Amino acid sequence: MSEELFISTESDKDARYRALLPQVRSLMAGEPDAIAKMANLAAALCQTFHFFWVGFYRVVEGEKGEELVLGPFQGPIACTRIQRGRGVCGTAWATRQTVVVPDVEQFPGHIACNSASRSEIVVPVFREGRVVAVLDIDSENLRAFDQVDAEYLERMAAYLFEEMS
Ligand code: SME
Repeated sequence: MSEELFISTESDKDARYRALLPQVRSLMAGEPDAIAKMANLAAALCQTFHFFWVGFYRVVEGEKGEELVLGPFQGPIACTRIQRGRGVCGTAWATRQTVVVPDVEQFPGHIACNSASRSEIVVPVFREGRVVAVLDIDSENLRAFDQVDAEYLERMAAYLFEEMS
């Protein structure tokens, strides 16, 4: 596809995700490099929704075992490493579930990479049944994320390691 993103001007979030979904799919089609796909997905989400921070943490094997390491992102600088079960990201990894946090101050163990972040959603990224990364999105507004975000973001995250032509 061309390198130009069509951004729906609908105010309705669902409609904006619906317009974005097939574009994300074709952006990824035929591209085998996961980092390149993560980078473009983070950029496409940021261009469409102007989120405060959008990015990936990848599960990487280190000296002390597996941990999350900062990957492609859009937004201010962020923490580079997160342990399994720690913070919202480490929780999504450990539980293999999407975590929606309406108010980060109410989430025990939330890792504040930036004090401007007020709410957050973290979606696990699977490859052959294993969590290999998480997609993390932060907002400066409270209660920015709900089931609509969860549903579309899970579908987009699934494209990352799906065979498609
Ligand atoms: N808040 C996250 C850490 C990552 S930053 O938000 C970019 C967490 O609690 O895991």
